[in-house]
Amino acid sequence: MRKQIVAGNWKMNNDYVDSELFVSKLLKELKHSKAEVIIAPPFTSLLASSNSVKGSRVIVAAQNMHFAENGAYTGEISAAMLQSVGVKTVILGHSERRAYFNETDALLAKKVDTALAHNMRAIFCFGEELEDRKSGNEETIVEGQIKNALFHLPASAWEHIVLAYEPVWAIGTGETASPQQAQDMHAFIRQTIANQYSADLAAEVSILYGGSVKPANAKEIFSKTDVDGGLIGGAALDVEQFTAIINAF
Ligand code: PGA
Repeated sequence: MRKQIVAGNWKMNNDYVDSELFVSKLLKELKHSKAEVIIAPPFTSLLASSNSVKGSRVIVAAQNMHFAENGAYTGEISAAMLQSVGVKTVILGHSERRAYFNETDALLAKKVDTALAHNMRAIFCFGEELEDRKSGNEETIVEGQIKNALFHLPASAWEHIVLAYEPVWAIGTGETASPQQAQDMHAFIRQTIANQYSADLAAEVSILYGGSVKPANAKEIFSKTDVDGGLIGGAALDVEQFTAIINAF
């Protein structure tokens, strides 16, 4: 079901103690808002965070997971392990995973399948690089990423998929896509899904924007018709900024 979502991706920040402090402050400051609130702490904080948010409206997500059920994959974490600490949502395909850990669309398709097989929700990230946008290829790139990782899914699987469009040139750079650039791409993404599945299905998919979202620009970006929320990096590390973004809805 299409929802408004604000998700904070902590990346490799906040140890166990910092995470606990963050969550208790967040729960105090969070007012009623229309948006679903997600935080994605590092693996070492998942258990404590998911215990701390119990009974609140905050949902804890993981930043990554492996596609295999278990086995000889040193350093990796499985879907069942995430579920054993109360985590049912996972971010997949973040551009940093793609760039630094060689995650390809084919690998991500497997991760998505594993998440869905475990009844987990996947926040699937994708987005073009600066050169792609400069050469006018952003739509082709984005369409390819979605098609390669997600179009093998049956229509029924899409209720467990959230999309996060994150132009790589806007991540952590302070440069944001303009609200209109975000809207244009989100409308294109929705149309791409409508063409493959149906307009009804496409209308139900939440599409988040990510890339230097801050309290100062969140309201305008979120006001766009096809933007259903944000995946926030830097600004999600500060409780005041994160709650200001949530309250932008
Ligand atoms: P940023 O990161 O908000 O720091 O640009 C966004 C993301 O990587 O999800």
